[in-house]
Amino acid sequence: MAFTTRSVSCALRLISRAPVVRSNLVNPVLYHPLMQARTFSVAVSLFKKSEVIRETEVPVSIYSPDGRAAAAGPGHFSIPVKETLAAATASIAEAENENVIPLGATVYNSMSPTMQKMSVMGKVIIVTGGARGLGNHMARACVEAGAKAMIIFDANQDLGDEAAAELHRKSGIDVSFFKVDVRDGDAINAAVEQVVNLYGTPDVLINSAGIADSNIKAETYDPALFRRLIDINLTGSFLMAQSVGRAMMAAGKPGSIIMVASMSGSIVNYPQEQSCYNASKAGVIQLGKSLAAEWAKYAIRVNCISPGYMDTALNKVPALDAQKKIWRSLTPQDRLGAVDDLNGLCVFLASDASSFMTGSNILIDGGYTLY
Ligand SMILES: NC(=O)c1ccc[n+]([C@@H]2O[C@H](COP(=O)([O-])OP(=O)(O)OC[C@H]3O[C@@H](n4cnc5c(N)ncnc54)[C@H](O)[C@@H]3O)[C@@H](O)[C@H]2O)c1
Repeated sequence: MAFTTRSVSCALRLISRAPVVRSNLVNPVLYHPLMQARTFSVAVSLFKKSEVIRETEVPVSIYSPDGRAAAAGPGHFSIPVKETLAAATASIAEAENENVIPLGATVYNSMSPTMQKMSVMGKVIIVTGGARGLGNHMARACVEAGAKAMIIFDANQDLGDEAAAELHRKSGIDVSFFKVDVRDGDAINAAVEQVVNLYGTPDVLINSAGIADSNIKAETYDPALFRRLIDINLTGSFLMAQSVGRAMMAAGKPGSIIMVASMSGSIVNYPQEQSCYNASKAGVIQLGKSLAAEWAKYAIRVNCISPGYMDTALNKVPALDAQKKIWRSLTPQDRLGAVDDLNGLCVFLASDASSFMTGSNILIDGGYTLY
C-alpha cells in the first residue's frame, strides 16, 4: 500500500493524540560500569517521537469561497516543520560534544566540608524528561557533582536510551533509562520499585518532563489539548512525586524533590497567549509548596525551579523566532538562558547544602520578572 505524505501525516496525528498506551513491562535499559557501553546511532523515529504532540508536519485543509484555497495550494496540504526535528537532533549533537567528568572519591575527600556538602556524593537520582534539554543537562551536572546512579525517566524511547548510553559512556557511572510516560501512574510505580531494587531508595527526584503549547487563544483552546497539557505538566509531576515520596517514606530516608516549574507560573508571558501552560506551572508551584508542608515531617524537601526563557528545543520553533526578539528585549540580561543554566541551582537543591530549604520557588530568568 502506498502512503502519501498526507496519509502518513494523518496517521501520525492519530497516534499522537492517542491516550497513553499500556504495555505489560517496564523494561529499563541499564548501563553499569562493568557493562560494555553499547554504541548505536541516534535515530529520531517519527513514530516513537509522536508520544508527545510535536508535529513534524502540520496538515492543513482550507475551505474558502474566495479562492484562497487555490492560492495556497490544492486545498489539502502539509506544512513541514523541519526545524523542530533538526533542533532536537542538534541538541543531541551539542550534548554529545560536551564532556562529563564524574566526581571521584579522591577529589571528594580532598574537598573542604562546605564543598563536600554542596555535592551529591553517593546519591541515587531520578530525572524525568532527562532524554534531552534542561533535564538532560541537570542529569549531567549531578553526575559531575558525585551522583552514585542516575536514572532517566522519559517517554521518548530513542532519545532516552541514547542519552543514558552516552552519559554512562562519558562518566562510567551507573545510568539507566526507563521509558515511562509521566501520566502513567502504574508504570511509574513499577519503575520506581525497580529503581529501589537496583540502586536503593532514591535520594533525589528532578521533575523536568513537560510540554508547552503557546500562541493559542483561550477562546479557541481545544479542551482535549488543555487537559493533555495539564495531565503531563501538573498531574505527571504529582504522580512522580507521590511514587518517589512513598519510597522515601517507606525507607525512612530523607530526600529532595525538585520541580521544574516556570516563571510562567508567576507571570503571564508576553506577547504569546498560553493560558494552559501558565496555569499548569502555577499548579506545579502550588503543588510543590503543598507537598513541602505535608512531607517536612518525613524529612522530604520539595522546591521549585522557575526558569525564564531558555534556549532549548522546546523553543526552537520557527513560529517563535519573531517573539524571541521580544522576549530578549524584556530580559535585562538580553539573552535566553543556556541549556545548562539551571545546573548549579539543581545541584544545590539536590545537595545537603540546601537542607533548610523547602517550599521555595526560585526564579532563574536573567532578570525577566524584574520589570
Ligand atoms: N525551555 C524553556 O524555555 C523553559 C522555560 C521554563 C520552564 N521550562 C520547563 O522545563 C522543563 C524542560 O523543558 P525543556 O526545554 O528541556 O524541554 P524539552 O522538550 O527539550 O525536554 C522535555 C523532555 O520531557 C520529555 N517528556 C515530554 N512529555 C513527557 C511525558 N508525558 N512523559 C515523560 N517524558 C516526557 C520529552 O521527551 C523530553 O525529553 C519543562 O517542564 C518545561 O516546561 C522550560
